[in-house]
Order: sequence, then C-alpha cells, then structure tokens
Amino acid sequence: MPGPLCPAGRRGGSRLPPGMRRSIGDDEQGYDLDLFCIPKHYADDLEKVYIPHGLIMDRTERLAREIMKGMGGHHIVALCVLKGGYKFFADLLDYIKALNRNSDKSIPMTVDFIRLKSYCNDQSTGDIKVIGGDDLSTLTGKNVLIVEDIIDTGKTMKTLLSLLKQYNPKMVKVASFTLVLFDSLLVKRTPRSVGYRPDFVGFEVPDKFVVGYALDYNEYFRDLNHICVISETGKQKYKA
Ligand code: HPA
Ligand code: MG
Repeated sequence: MPGPLCPAGRRGGSRLPPGMRRSIGDDEQGYDLDLFCIPKHYADDLEKVYIPHGLIMDRTERLAREIMKGMGGHHIVALCVLKGGYKFFADLLDYIKALNRNSDKSIPMTVDFIRLKSYCNDQSTGDIKVIGGDDLSTLTGKNVLIVEDIIDTGKTMKTLLSLLKQYNPKMVKVASFTLVLFDSLLVKRTPRSVGYRPDFVGFEVPDKFVVGYALDYNEYFRDLNHICVISETGKQKYKA
C-alpha cells in the first residue's frame, strides 16, 4: 500500500526513515477509500484517504514528546484554536497527560479555547479578532502552546502571535496538525505563503483541500476520522 505521508520537519533530510523520506507532490495518490471505514454519508464525497487515523494518532504521540521536551519546564497553557483544532488538541493533550503520569518530571497544564475571526471577510488581510477564551492577560508569564488544525498562508498565525506577545507570555510555541506546503513546483509559481513555520508540525500537505479529523469544508467532514481529499461531488454537494 503506497504511503502519501511526510511527517513534517525534516523533509528531504537524511534523518527520516527510508519509507518516510519522500516529499508529497500534487500527484500524490493516497489510499483507496474501501481500505478503510468511511461514514456512508460521505461515500461519494471523498477522493482518497490521505492520512489514516492510526497514523495521525502515532504521529501525535511523538509530537507530545517533542512538545514536552521543548517547553515542559514551566506551567503550560494549551490554547486550542476552534473549531478545527479540537480533535488534534484533545488527542495531543491525552498524550501529554500520559507523559505527565508516567514520568518523574511533570508539569501542570491548563487549557483555553479561542476562535479567530478575520475582520475583513476571510481574505486574510492580517486583521483578526479573538473570540471567546479567558482574558488574554491570563497568559502573562506562562508557557503558551497554541494548537491549530492547519496553517495555510501563515498570515493569521503571524497576527495571532503578535497579539499574544503584547501580554508578555514567558514563551509561545505553535503546534499545527498540518502545514500546507507551498514549495511544490506547482505552487512555487504563485506563492501565497508568508513563509511562517510553526514550532511543531504533524504533517505537511500539498495545496489540496483536505478534510476530516475536525478539518471541515463548510462545516462538513469534521465527523470523519481520517484526513481525506474531497471529491468534486463533495465540493458541489456541500458548497456554501
Ligand atoms: N482544509 C480545511 N481547512 C482549510 C484548508 C484545508 O485544506 N486550507 C485552509 N483551511
Ligand atoms: Mg484553524
């Protein structure tokens, strides 16, 4: 079974195991849907399974370890960016809690939940509004871990980071489940990215619309375990 995956961080580098040492191109095949359990209501709406749920969980476990190594010395505030971040957030925190339970060293963690709204429709002008969550002054002096579902152009995250820094946290790190790769040949010609790279990345994905594991297309597909590529039928069916 071919694997479409490139756990992020060392793309093309020699430190990835041989099976993983591949970049994901726009021609990446993915896995056939009938190899997996897919909700019947989405049977015609997906092209391929791109990242199976089991692999998501294994990668998340490893990320938890890296996060604790990188920021585990001091009270962590884990900040979930809703709605897309909720699955990754819940699973990541479960793994971090397991590390805290089973190690000599443990640190307290508190949680908060925010939503982001672009001021000027969603053309990513760089202006965002934080909705919900506690007063941001609670972040002062804390190690803040922002947990996101996907970083696309990076504009929103850059804006959020500069906003949070005004409250003087001790440290801010970003864990993103996926990062859209803009340096595949196809996308290089029209770069949209501001070149932002999060501290912790689950998977790098090409600039194709992916759904599942809380990533949505007009609110649909959050109820799907695997990360999949949406089909044309799916796009039409759930068009806004
Ligand atoms: N899927 C879901 N949400 C997104 C995506 C995507 O591929 N890119 C930007 N937001
Ligand atoms: Mg998001």
